[in-house]
Amino acid sequence: ILVSPDPAATARRAADVVLAGLARRPGRDPVLGLATGSSPLGLYQELGRAVAEGRADFSTAHGIALDEYVGLPPGHPEGYRQVLLREVCDVIGLSPDRLAVPDGSATDEASLVAAATAYEERIAALGGVDVQILGIGANGHLGFNEPGSALASRTRVKRLSERTRRDNARFFTGLDDVPTHCLTQGLGTILGARRLVLVATGDGKADAVAAALEGPLTASVPASVLQWHPDTVVCLDEAAAAGLR
Ligand code: F6R
Repeated sequence: ILVSPDPAATARRAADVVLAGLARRPGRDPVLGLATGSSPLGLYQELGRAVAEGRADFSTAHGIALDEYVGLPPGHPEGYRQVLLREVCDVIGLSPDRLAVPDGSATDEASLVAAATAYEERIAALGGVDVQILGIGANGHLGFNEPGSALASRTRVKRLSERTRRDNARFFTGLDDVPTHCLTQGLGTILGARRLVLVATGDGKADAVAAALEGPLTASVPASVLQWHPDTVVCLDEAAAAGLR
């Protein structure tokens, strides 16, 4: 657990942790797991700075999204493919051809189940994720694994909680426009990454961070699975760390 004074310092430290994790497998195209949301934005900017300064190169990297909404039309600006193209590919020089996002465009269950299976196969074919970047929901969710998610779950369709839909309504014109379902890597999928890097800043995350890191390992707090992973680095600012003992 690395506590920094403010969000900017948290982002710098997280970027160093990500780059060190990717450097452990030289000679192989790095596979970077990507979260959306506000928490990792500073980290992505710092990775972009590292590229500009010649300290990093993502031109041969693969990007693996954590999750995607179901039912948004292709090209919707808040669909996570578009978000990651803007906030990651453009910023760190990751090729759009090397960005994998679960395909949430189908509306029937069989196609979505097939998309989830295909996504797991894609991750396996790349040899797994080297470093998975994560944020945490105020309710302790990880990816879109809401409280009650099975600890060994794989990529699948999930219903979004009302809390998460309200939290994400800021990206849409209103709550009614926020999708009700998503495709998300499961907790078991996330645990398969070689290194997990969670970024959380602000007092709104303090309770969730404390429950995840110091509470019991429980499906009621999905991010508590971090305790189970042998190489997890949690990057917090002081506000997000305020609930830790
Ligand atoms: C995003 C994701 C979510 C977010 C979480 C925190 O791909 O899977 O788990 O990381 O909701 O969101 P922010 O960072 O916006 O507070």
